[in-house]
Amino acid sequence: MTTKSLIAANWKMNKSVKEAVSFIEDFKNYVKDVEIVICPSFTLLNKLNESIKNTNIKLGAQNMHFEEKGAFTGEISGLMLKDVGCEYVILGHSERRQYFNETDELINKKIKAALKNKLKPILCIGENLQQRNNNQTMGIIKKQIIGDLNNVSDREIKNIIVAYEPIWAIGTGKNATPEQAEEVHKFIRELLSKKYNGNAAKNTRIIYGGSMKPENAKELLSMPDIDGGLVGGASLDAKSFAKICSVRI
Ligand code: 13P
Repeated sequence: MTTKSLIAANWKMNKSVKEAVSFIEDFKNYVKDVEIVICPSFTLLNKLNESIKNTNIKLGAQNMHFEEKGAFTGEISGLMLKDVGCEYVILGHSERRQYFNETDELINKKIKAALKNKLKPILCIGENLQQRNNNQTMGIIKKQIIGDLNNVSDREIKNIIVAYEPIWAIGTGKNATPEQAEEVHKFIRELLSKKYNGNAAKNTRIIYGGSMKPENAKELLSMPDIDGGLVGGASLDAKSFAKICSVRI
């Protein structure tokens, strides 16, 4: 890995404004000198944009619409996310694919829109348990990479973070073993090196998500192709997230 590692928190549908502000107050005392991204609910973004001033915490959203504005009731655009201080946006999370029927085609449109708005997409990909058991993992990963990154250029790929999140490891407490994760991360890097020129594949951060916690973070983050983490449940508690962010390889 040549780039600095990145640890991102996906808070999913959790926390009130009061709880979120108190998290930042606690967390910023624990962790220094690491690039951290917190992705809270839309309702918390504006307030947290103030709370993270003068810290090394960056702000990300969990989803966005691909249009900039218009008659799309209930949606949030990339332009709006920039306006409240977001630098990152999670796209293609398996929960969006599964519960909101997001397709690779739609995710690709969102990726292009995010890049246009100077937001860095954290693109989530990964297989479910049945696909893993049927030896379809690499095929699924390849299909997602090809579809989600359609028309993404050599210049643009530098601003994308790929998150490998095996669905069977999300919220189950059962993480992929470091070897299982590394095998897929390496495969993703190979796909990127075929698709992109120069150092793009080497410099793209490929992070792991799926039951990452203080007890397993070090062994996962020590693998050569794992450049960081996307943490769900264990990111909701400041102390536990700080422990993950403090891992030094
Ligand atoms: P958990 O860490 O709770 O398994 O969630 C992972 C995830 O979905 C992050 O996007």
